[in-house]
Amino acid sequence: MKEERRGPIVTLDGPAGSGKSSTAKAVAARLGFRHLDSGALYRALTFALLESGVPEERWTGLTEADLLALEVSVEPTETGFDVLVAGRAVGDELRSQRVTSRVARLASLRASRACLMALQRAAGAHGRLVADGRDMGSVVFPDAEVKVYLVADLTERARRRLRDEGVRVPTDRDVAAQSGVIAERDRHDSEREFSPLRKPEASHLIDTTRLSFENQVKSIVSLVDRLTPP
Ligand code: DC
Repeated sequence: MKEERRGPIVTLDGPAGSGKSSTAKAVAARLGFRHLDSGALYRALTFALLESGVPEERWTGLTEADLLALEVSVEPTETGFDVLVAGRAVGDELRSQRVTSRVARLASLRASRACLMALQRAAGAHGRLVADGRDMGSVVFPDAEVKVYLVADLTERARRRLRDEGVRVPTDRDVAAQSGVIAERDRHDSEREFSPLRKPEASHLIDTTRLSFENQVKSIVSLVDRLTPP
């Protein structure tokens, strides 16, 4: 896999709200690499499944072929990838409550992990990629040149999520409720049987609780700058 690469792969994994996607996007922009948001693929698969009308109680019996038939794909852009379902670009639908509340369930199925593997690896075939998710450094790109594991305190992650949703001054109650939702997502992602969330071997641990966004980005870019050319 490595021989065909024209540059490194950088992986960013971590729990919900640790700042992976925004950090990965900024790191990719700084390096002139593409950004792959693997969470968006699991969301697209969930969206496609909901649209197809397969009742949720039948999801566990789905095969990889069933999921491949939903035709989730990606198309490279200048800075990343558009996510498509049956040839149609999907965007805002992926962040809807309908998808968000069900995606962890779908992501825990072996068939969904298998279905998206080739697509993710193809996106990194030529390197020059910053991929974020839960299993980028551990399963999908185990030979990535730079692996990062981002963490942050639960309440800080809850505050960030609320800020993203437009809640500028959250109350303690808002933070407590959001912390509960995130903790439940973490539990789901860490305890599942297939590709559970864990710190990849040889990854750099970065705690973003008290780190400015700019410093987070800089510290990852400097790890890439320090790589010795092949
Ligand atoms: O990062 P996100 O919130 O968009 O992720 C959506 C869901 O997909 C979340 O439950 C974790 C799961 N996911 C995963 O299992 N593996 C990945 N590589 C990326 C996301």
